[in-house]
Amino acid sequence: MSALPAAKLPLTELAEMKRRGQKIVMVTAYDMPGARFAEDAGIDVVLVGDSAAMVVLGHEGTTVPVTMDEMLFLTRAVSRAVRRPIVVGDMPFGSYQVDDADAVRNAIRFVKEAGADVVKLEGAGPMASRARAIVEAGIPVMGHIGLTPQTATKLGGFRTQGKSAEAARALVADARELEAVGCFSIVLEAVPAPVAEEITATVAIPTIGIGAGPGCDGQVLVYHDLLGLSEGHLPRFVKRYASLSREIRDALEAYASEVRSGAFPDAEHSYGMADDQLTSFTGETT
Ligand code: KIV
Repeated sequence: MSALPAAKLPLTELAEMKRRGQKIVMVTAYDMPGARFAEDAGIDVVLVGDSAAMVVLGHEGTTVPVTMDEMLFLTRAVSRAVRRPIVVGDMPFGSYQVDDADAVRNAIRFVKEAGADVVKLEGAGPMASRARAIVEAGIPVMGHIGLTPQTATKLGGFRTQGKSAEAARALVADARELEAVGCFSIVLEAVPAPVAEEITATVAIPTIGIGAGPGCDGQVLVYHDLLGLSEGHLPRFVKRYASLSREIRDALEAYASEVRSGAFPDAEHSYGMADDQLTSFTGETT
C-alpha cells in the first residue's frame, strides 16, 4: 500500500513546482496496476495516452485508430486506481478536430464518465480554439506541440520538429498561443533541447518534455517504453529503466514448459482435503 498522501495533487501546484524549479514527473498508464505503480512511485501526473493505440491495442505505428470509447474505458481503470496523481485523459484523433462544440462534448465525457481530472489535445492554431472552448467549459487542458503523433502523416512521419530557426519560432508562437487560451501545461515532443528551453523560459505554464531535453519543467515517458515492455525500435529519447519483456517471456516459457512436463501444479500449489473426508469421498464415489 502507498504511504503517499491520499489527497489529489492540486492542479495549481504544477505551476508552483515550475516556479520553485522542482521537476514534474509524468508517465503514461492504461490500467489499474500501472496506475498504482505510478502512484506508489510518487509520480505527479498520469497520462492515459492515446499511445495506448500502439502499446496496448496493437495498432502498428499510429495513434489515429483509437476511439473515444476505448480511451474512456482505459481512463476509467486508471482514475479508479489512483488518488494523488492528476489523471490526464488524452483526447483521441477525431474527438476534437471537427468543431469546438464536439471538443467540449468529448472533454466532458472524459471527466464525467471516466473520472479524468483534465484532458490533453494536440496542436495549436485551430486546435487552440478547441482548447479555449474546453477551458471555458471548466475543464483544464494540457496542450501538446512539436511532434504531434495524430498528425504525423502531415508532418512527414515521426520526426523531430522545430529544427530550423523559422520552425523553432513557430513553436514558440504556438506555445504562447496555448498559454493565452488557458492551457495549464504543454507537452513538448521531439523538439531540439534549445527550442524547448526557450519555450520553457517564455511561458509561465509548465512544459513537460518527451524528447525535448533537460530544460523542460517536467518529463514524460511511455510506461511500456521505460519499463522495456515495448520491443523493436524505440526513439533515441527513450531511456529503458528495466527489461520487463525479457522477464515476462522467460516466465511464460517456464510456465508453459512446467505445464507440459507435469511439474506444475505440484503439491504446494494444489488443495488437499481432510483424510476422513477423502476416505468418505473416495468410498462414496468408487
Ligand atoms: O499518448 C501519449 O503517450 C502521449 C505522450 C507521448 C506525451 O501523448
